[in-house]
Order: sequence, then structure tokens, then C-alpha cells
Amino acid sequence: MRQRNPYNPDSTPRPHEVRHVMAGARTQVTGEDQSRLSEAEIAVHWKEEALYYPGPKFIGQANWTDPGVMERFSEKNFPECFREFADLLTWDQYWHTTLDTSKAPFWKWFVGGKLNVSANCVDRHLAMYANKSSLIWVPEPEDEPTVVLTYQELYNRVNEMAALLRDHCGLKKGDRVTIHMPMVPELPITMLACARLGVIHSVVFGGFSGEACGARIVDSGSRILVTMDGYYRSGKLLDHKVNADIAVAAAEKEGTKVEKVLVWKRFRDKAASPTPMIAGRDFYVNDVLKQFAGAKVEPVSIPAEDPLFLMYTSGSTGKPKGCQHSSGGYLAYVTGTSKFIQDIHPTDIYWCMADIGWITGHSYIVYGPLANAATTVLYEGVPTYPDAGRPWRIAERLGVNIFHTSPTAIRSLRKLGPDEPKKYRYHFKCMTTVGEPIEPEAWKWYYEVVGRSEAVITDTWWQTETGGFLCTTKPGIDPMKPGSAGPPMPGIYPAILDEQGNEIPTGSGRAGNIVIRNPWPGIFETIWGDPDRFVKTYYAKYNKNKSSTDWHDWPYFAGDGALRAPDGYIRILGRVDDVINVAGHRLGTKELESACLTVPEVAEAAVVPIVDPEKGRVPEVYVALKPGVKADPAVAEKVSKAIETQIGKIARPRTVRIVPDMPKTRSGKIMRRVLASISNRMDYGDISTLSNPEVVEQIRVMVQGAGPVEKQAGPDDIKQFGKDV
Ligand code: WT7
Repeated sequence: MRQRNPYNPDSTPRPHEVRHVMAGARTQVTGEDQSRLSEAEIAVHWKEEALYYPGPKFIGQANWTDPGVMERFSEKNFPECFREFADLLTWDQYWHTTLDTSKAPFWKWFVGGKLNVSANCVDRHLAMYANKSSLIWVPEPEDEPTVVLTYQELYNRVNEMAALLRDHCGLKKGDRVTIHMPMVPELPITMLACARLGVIHSVVFGGFSGEACGARIVDSGSRILVTMDGYYRSGKLLDHKVNADIAVAAAEKEGTKVEKVLVWKRFRDKAASPTPMIAGRDFYVNDVLKQFAGAKVEPVSIPAEDPLFLMYTSGSTGKPKGCQHSSGGYLAYVTGTSKFIQDIHPTDIYWCMADIGWITGHSYIVYGPLANAATTVLYEGVPTYPDAGRPWRIAERLGVNIFHTSPTAIRSLRKLGPDEPKKYRYHFKCMTTVGEPIEPEAWKWYYEVVGRSEAVITDTWWQTETGGFLCTTKPGIDPMKPGSAGPPMPGIYPAILDEQGNEIPTGSGRAGNIVIRNPWPGIFETIWGDPDRFVKTYYAKYNKNKSSTDWHDWPYFAGDGALRAPDGYIRILGRVDDVINVAGHRLGTKELESACLTVPEVAEAAVVPIVDPEKGRVPEVYVALKPGVKADPAVAEKVSKAIETQIGKIARPRTVRIVPDMPKTRSGKIMRRVLASISNRMDYGDISTLSNPEVVEQIRVMVQGAGPVEKQAGPDDIKQFGKDV
């Protein structure tokens, strides 16, 4: 069935070429700034892709099929339109004020309302679904059996863990707990146990180093760390307990004492880690839980605007930001988006391949799916272990019918096993991609091969800060366009602005900064412990009146470049700040650079993104050494190690290059753009305004060899580069 595009009913999907140029005119800058601006002037060329339409079978069962939803969520019905999401929840006390803007931009949603998040994700489903599976866990070793937890059993386990946190650790509403765990059912159990008590959890991605975990313990002020002794990754059993010791020591150095370390056991009958337990501090959860067998903990009624969790994310400067998410607004938003965009029904078997340690896992493995009484699948390991057929075997075996992953996973599965999906009998009704822009080529493989030209794809654009999806097609209503995130979510009113705050018209072919003009229930409430930075980073740029309590005066600055096609579909170009998106996750260049500077030989460091066919971007590091230090490969090795231990393996640089000096502006700023061009084997453009242009050619020869410049930057490279460079 062919539908018309609801955003422009008269448009015919006619491929045409458009030239898009980042906003900001060359004439506005002079001198050294010119080289800076050319960074922001990235031209993007691509063909408009043809539209794909959802099929009748999907539409016939979809949760949202009424195109009138845009009208219901239009600006004249804001903010009351979001009742539709909040009414999906069970409230202990209904709210009196849908949106309170009196402390703008610290928005409060559903004020006066009280609820418990764990009761919404677990208890309320017992009447209908006690015996239905809630979580299905797939261990990485293929010969280890799958674990299925019914809602009843999830309820039992969450209660017991809540009792342990309360009575063994003395935790109460408002306390923070850091959780550094792999992908195991004990992770959502711990999160839901915290939520039951109103304890704020801060989950740190399991792949992050002990030191990175320690820094987050300090920032959040956690006195309890929950971890696991070990887990499997790529066929190896990793010692994870050792990271807890490093984290506690790092936190202690900064003055934060961790009183108890709770260690879940990966195996019932043996320890997975040789690292010793420290008496009086470390406890095996599995042992302590025996005291709480059968315990029940009354869910604590929590005001809607009280925090549910912190999630740390990288920014362009300074330490990671603890994004504070609310209880009521957040849960309403992820429940609504899971139901209407992921099209989750209680009968669906839903698998999101992300890690719970990122926001995607919080919103769309744990809270959204469970609030909708779905069956949510957790997989311990890497998607390509032991081979690229693994995800499709899991899908076949468990009967997964909704699949959610990232462009980086799609690219690597396509590369390693382009025909693997065809070998397995599974059927997806819909699929999601998230984390970075997806190339139309990868999109088409996902659609045709993984989705068998039948599953609807939603390309969801959002961020750690935003709690849930901001731009995406509505799967039963809108056509899909490869490479484009689509229209805004109902109730989200974006605009694309130039540097001065002027709106760039839809269909003008020009890109700019995407902002969301209005608050929505999933928006984070503040940066933990740093409200000024919250206002400065996300709102100051386009706010003209600091004392205004009118939300219209506070556009949310997302930090992404974007443009809007004539049909209203939004294409995201990537970050506008110094953040590298590796495999769909933000790493702050400053954070990586400061890790490099902990190596005593290093005087200066610059980290640039290089295009990687699978991960999207990977960091490449340039370092200049202190005077008198020899350029020894051992130093490069130390730099690499420093990044690995202080940030984590995910940030491991492709190469560390020791250079005689950094290319700099006359005011002494390192020109990362020039280094990035060299790394990506492109022409570095005009360098005449630098203070030391001669070093650029030296570096180019080091990196690219003595021949001529390898490649002029062509439109395709720039398309690939997005705005990162
Ligand atoms: C940044 C947010 C959202 C959960 C995972 C990452 C990029 C995210 C898309 C998409 C194009 C995307 C943006 C955004 N991004 N989704 N569908 N299309 N770009 O969360 O680590 O907070 O990163 O990821 O640049 O700002 P995050």
C-alpha cells in the first residue's frame, strides 16, 4: 500500500541532488578564525533517497496508525498532549501541573504526581502477566543455557535485592549507588531494586576502566559500588572484580570512601575472578541475598520530578556530565516511545543489542520495554562471537520480532557475514537503528537482508540527555528514508538555527544547529552537582532572556548539525563540538587528551576522529614530547595504555603519532582540523594563517608518506566526515 508523505502530501519522492552547506558565511570571519570556520562550513552532497513504505501487515497491528496524532501533539495542545504518555503509567497520586516552567530551564513535569518506577515496570504486570517472560538472558558461550525470568520471578528478585540494599547497605531514597556491571539479568534487577527504594542509580558501562568508574563514584558521591566478578566477552572470561578495586582506590584518592562493594557472581558455584575479596568491604551478593529470601519491599512512592538515575556522558570540555533523569517524566516518555515507535506490545519479544551501560539500554532495554510488559532480551557478549550468524541464531531461537541496534553493529555484521541472515528463520516486524547517522548503503542491507524487505525501520535520533527519541518516523504512519532520522516525534518542535539564532528554512538545502524549541517529559533535569554548566551547555547559546519563565525563550541546543529536506525530514550530520562518536557513543576529545598528558614524556596532545568503515569514527592521537625526550615507540605505547586504563578499551586509539610540534594558530590553539585532514588522507586546505605552517607538511609526510597529497577532499569524504572534523 502506498501512502502519501504526511509531511508534504504533494511531494513526489523524486531523487535529486542538493548541495548543503553548514550555516555561517565565510565573509563573517577574518584572520586566524578563518581556518576555524572552515570546520563549520562542511559541504555535504548526497542524493535524496527514495521513500520506503510500511506494509499493510505491520500497519494492521501497529500501536499508532492514526495520522491525527500530529494534530493531537501540535503546539496548541502542548504541554497537555503529553498526558497521553503519562496515562500509560500507574500513578500512586495523579499530578496537578503537567509542566512547571517557573525555574526555567529546569523543567518539572507532572508536578504533584507520585509513582514508583519498579512497581510500574514489574508489580503492575503481575495480575495479567505473572507467568510471562520479562527478561531472557543469553550468555555469550553458546553451550550455556538461556535464562528466562518471568514477571513473577523478576518481582521476587527485585524485592530481595531491594531488601538487601536497604537493610544490608542502609540505602534510602535520594542516595546514589554506582553500578559497574556487564550485560546480565542482575544488572536490571539491581537498577529496579534501586528504583523501588528511590535510590538513584548511576550505571557505568561495563567496558569502562576502573579509573573511569572511580571518577563517576566521586562525582555522584556513591558509597556503595555494585559489580560482578567476571563475564564473557569474545570468548574470554574477563576479570571484572579487579576493576572494582581500581575504582575504589581511585575514588579514595579523590576523597570519596566506598563503604561496601557488592559483587554478583557470574557462576553459581565458583568465582569468576582470581582477585581476592576484601574482608569487611566486599560481599558476594549471592551469599548475602540468602538472608533476604522471600523478602518483600513496599515500593516507595516517589514525586514525579525526583531523580531516577544519573547517566554520565562526554562533553567537549571538562569531566563527564552526570545527566540527571527524572522518575515520572522520564518513564512516561520512554514508555510512550517504546509503545508507539518501537511498537512494543506485551506479546512481543524485543531485543535491543545495545549495552545497558548506555542510555539506549536504560530507556530501551530496561525501562521502556518493561513498563510495556514486553519480553526483553539481554545478550552478554559481542554480536560477532563466535561468528556473524550469532544475532540471527539468537533471533531464531527466541522468536525475537523487534530488533534494535546501531549502524556500527550493522556495518560489522554486514562486512563479516553479508548472507548470514538468510540462513536463519526469524521474522522481524520492525527494527531500530540509533547512535549515529547511517549510510544509505548500510540502511538498505539492514532493510533488505536483515529485515527481508518487510520489517519497518525507525532511525531514531536522540541523546543521553534527551531520555528518549526526538526524531524518528512513526513506523505505522510515515514512509522511511534511508539515512534520514525523519520527522520530529509528536510533541517535539525542532528548529534548525544559524549561529545568530535565525531559523534556516526547511528545504533551503542549508544546515545548521538543531535545537528543540520546547521541553518534553524525557529531557534530563540537570547536570548532577553543576546546574550552571547545565544552563551554559544546553540553553545559554540561544536564550535571550535569562529570567524568562516562558519555555519559548529556552531552545535546547543539542550540539548536532542537521538540515531539513523539503519534505520536512531531518538529516543529522553529527556533532558540532569536540566530541568523537565511536561506535555510536560520545567520547570527549578533551578527556582523551588529558589521559595522554598523564604520560610524563608528553607535552601536548591532540585527538582527532578518523573514519572507520565499521565503527564510524575512531580516535587517532598526536603527541608532541617534552624537550629532550626521544621519540621512542615505547612512549606511543604508554599513551595508548593511558587511554585504555583511564577511559576504557572503547577509546583505544588507532595510532599514536609522535610529532615534532603541533600545528597551531597564532593564538596558540592546536589545529585539530588540519591533523584530522592528514589522518584521513585528505587535503588540509589553507594553512597560511598558522603560526608554524611548515610543520604541517612534515607531519603529512610522516603520516601519508613522501608522495603528493593523496586525495583532494571530495564530497563523499566530507559526507563521511560529517561535522566531526
Ligand atoms: C549523539 C548522542 C542516543 C543513544 C545513543 C548515543 C548521535 C544518535 C543518531 C541517529 C544520527 C545520531 C548524535 C547525538 N546520534 N542517534 N539516529 N542519527 N546521529 O547517545 O552517546 O548521548 O550520543 O549520537 O550526534 O548527538 P549519546
